[in-house]
Amino acid sequence: MIPMVDLKTQYARLKDEIDRSVREVLESCAFVLGPNVKAFEDEAAAYLGVKHAIGCASGTDALHLALRAAGIGTGDEIITTAFTFIATAEAIRYVGATPVFVDIDPLTFNLDPAAIEAVITDRTKAVMPVHLFGQPADLARISALCERHGLLLIEDCAQSFGASIQGWQTGSIGLASGFSFFPSKNLGGYGDGGLVATQSDEVAAKLKMLRNHGSEVRYYHDAIGYNSRLDEIQAAILRIKLRHIDDFNTARRRAAHRYSELLAGLPVETPHEDGLGVHVYHQYTLLSDRRAAVMAALQKAGIASAIYYPVPLHRQNVFAAAYADVSLPVTESVAARCLSLPIYPELEEGDIRRIVQVIGDALNG
Ligand SMILES: Cc1ncc(COP(=O)(O)O)c(C=O)c1O
Repeated sequence: MIPMVDLKTQYARLKDEIDRSVREVLESCAFVLGPNVKAFEDEAAAYLGVKHAIGCASGTDALHLALRAAGIGTGDEIITTAFTFIATAEAIRYVGATPVFVDIDPLTFNLDPAAIEAVITDRTKAVMPVHLFGQPADLARISALCERHGLLLIEDCAQSFGASIQGWQTGSIGLASGFSFFPSKNLGGYGDGGLVATQSDEVAAKLKMLRNHGSEVRYYHDAIGYNSRLDEIQAAILRIKLRHIDDFNTARRRAAHRYSELLAGLPVETPHEDGLGVHVYHQYTLLSDRRAAVMAALQKAGIASAIYYPVPLHRQNVFAAAYADVSLPVTESVAARCLSLPIYPELEEGDIRRIVQVIGDALNG
């Protein structure tokens, strides 16, 4: 069986280091917001090139708290993409704002900067690009647009830890950016976890308060906050994995490029790198008009594959009625044809060859 992501092999490689640091946390009995969280926040901030990195309980919380700390609330509109995981839009709804979905670029699957201006109203407060599948969105164009129209830029970096654009890490350009450490992410913990990156002292101070019951001083509360803290065990594991993130991402890129080389000539559209930034391949996602046949053949051969995402957000049950008038032709076409293949740093050449062979047989047979 070839899985979508192989966490076991990675654990086996890092086992001694990880077991030792988890044991140290257990022995210290400091479990929440302790020294490992502080050290991980400092190390992540240095890696990302931001002034502040604030740990929290999940990527969803990171986006929610980032929006709240940025002052976004009821009645505000946020321009974003419908070709993403639901959490992007959930975070917007949590603060009482409305997601305004625009179409995506057909090659990168990221929010199309050219579509933004047409939907700006006097209620628009922010633009929230998602660096989907690990490829940076066109932040130069999007941030210039935000500046011109007085909008905030909030980045969804759940899938893009370590991806960079013109020398900047994703997450270092927007006012505030949310990262996820869900186990399958490029930088993944062994449970839920998240982080907000920001250059703003004010946003950072608000975030630290919001994640901890609206409190800066224990048992004194200045706002209604949340219980959304990163725990010490996750932070200890993430500190170890952070030291390897560039190697992990390089190995993902190598695997992705091998797929694309071997798939060339088959009737599929392989992922496009737009050259603006460094794609870190959280997913390797191709387009095929015969997706069901390819998936069935892979399954028969014991190879996992997945559809990220089968239903764009404006067509999800939770949003369909409110967005019945919205048509996003590129998003809808991509959602109908996209297929993600197994990808992880430890994926071997032989596995890639076997996967491509099965796809070739399915399409040529
Ligand atoms: C694009 C995107 N945004 C947000 C999230 C939410 O992250 P989490 O699962 O850590 O809450 C995810 C991850 O699942 C994601 O892929």
